[in-house]
Amino acid sequence: MGLSIIILAAGQGMRMRSERPKVLQPLAGKPLLAHVLASAAELQADDVCVVYGHGGETVQATFPDPKIRWALQTEQLGTGHAVQQAAPETPGENRVLILAGDVPLLTAATLRFLLSETPGEDMSVLTVEMDDPTGYGRIVREGGSVTSIVEQKDASDEEKSIREINTGVILCPGDKLQRWLRALGNDNAQGEYYLTDVIAMAVADKVTVHGVKANTAEEVMGINDKKQLAEAERALQARLVDELMQDGVGFSDPARVDIRGTLKCGKDVFIDINAVFEGDVELGDGTQIESNNLIRDSKLGAGTVVHSNCHIEGATTGEHCELGPFARLRPGADLADKVKIGNFVEVKKSTIADGSKVNHLTYIGDAEIGTDVNVGAGTITCNYDGANKHKTTIGDGAFIGSGVELVAPVEIGAGATIGAGSTITSAAPDDSLTLERAKQKSIDGWIRPEKKEKT
Ligand code: UD1
Ligand code: CA
Repeated sequence: MGLSIIILAAGQGMRMRSERPKVLQPLAGKPLLAHVLASAAELQADDVCVVYGHGGETVQATFPDPKIRWALQTEQLGTGHAVQQAAPETPGENRVLILAGDVPLLTAATLRFLLSETPGEDMSVLTVEMDDPTGYGRIVREGGSVTSIVEQKDASDEEKSIREINTGVILCPGDKLQRWLRALGNDNAQGEYYLTDVIAMAVADKVTVHGVKANTAEEVMGINDKKQLAEAERALQARLVDELMQDGVGFSDPARVDIRGTLKCGKDVFIDINAVFEGDVELGDGTQIESNNLIRDSKLGAGTVVHSNCHIEGATTGEHCELGPFARLRPGADLADKVKIGNFVEVKKSTIADGSKVNHLTYIGDAEIGTDVNVGAGTITCNYDGANKHKTTIGDGAFIGSGVELVAPVEIGAGATIGAGSTITSAAPDDSLTLERAKQKSIDGWIRPEKKEKT
């Protein structure tokens, strides 16, 4: 039997108080819906359909995947009505798994368990026990199987005392689902077409409805407001850090790190507090990340140490590099092995070869720097003439004195020495000292201006 997945994502999410559609609110750096789609993708369904409505085009544009089928729900008349928008196109011979776009922590493992616990011709509901079930649909059971789901607003006092609730995840045979959906009414406290009403119809059709319990309430939490979004963020961060610790990554405090994307680590990596990882980040064996670092879309080679307070984006380093404290690597910063980038140094779109050092207060942009180069404090590659960018090339073993301006395009030869304070505008030859400096003079008997009395 094949599998079709329908994800309900048309709700407005009023309680978010945001211009952004609810399913696009960010969790661990990705929209809520991306997390649900990722779990769905792991199940390798024949067909994944997202029911969208509020914020329609923006939601669709965020997920250009041609494998996703979209069904528009123009008016949000309830979860049953939402499924009605998707179901006609859903193959009747498939089993249909219905998910909510605002339940992002649900794992593929739990969904696989739900599928394995449900014989093909049966139906099942993913449930969970809650200490405080207020607001959720309650699971009514008779002789073990589920006989109905009663929404909070329609529940009697006795039904309200039930602690097992509907997570919103439902699995059922496609052909029967289509028949039941056609029979849905909206005669209830909210005047909505409730998907949950199909359970009573299944029971009437002698279809067994299993209530399969999820392990934790956290995994099935629905996100309705910013407080729940923040709770889910912490829960997901804890999960991501747990996985990394199981792989041997060390953290000084697992609660004070944020992974907004994918973080891949080698052996014996250590991460201190307040490190933020965004996009795709790779840390080689033995990498050490000190406190207060932001690392985005970068790859750091084995043994590299990032001292405190660096901002690293779109950069790569070889092995045993040392960065910071207070260094900034911008996109295209490409360092080979044993390169040192010190405090208040900015590197953009430049390659720096093995063993070179740029230790203090320097800007390196659009440059190609050879091996074992030493760039003194306060050096600037003047790469921009106000209209175009130009390249600076520095040969192997060159020594650039402090306070030098390299006006690009310019080439510094291998083994060249550039005197401190020079403004270099044309090529400096190999193995020579090049300097450009006004003659120093002293004025005898010079008198400093004195502060005038205020009149
Ligand atoms: C629903 C369930 C309730 C369950 C709860 C779990 C029904 C009738 N109730 O209630 O039993 O305990 O979820 O969180 O199904 N949506 C649409 N179109 C609509 C209405 C909703 O796409 O017209 C989507 C929402 O975007 C959301 C999901 O369906 O992703 C659930 O909708 P929501 O309004 O949150 O349902 P609840 O009232 O919370
Ligand atoms: Ca909800």
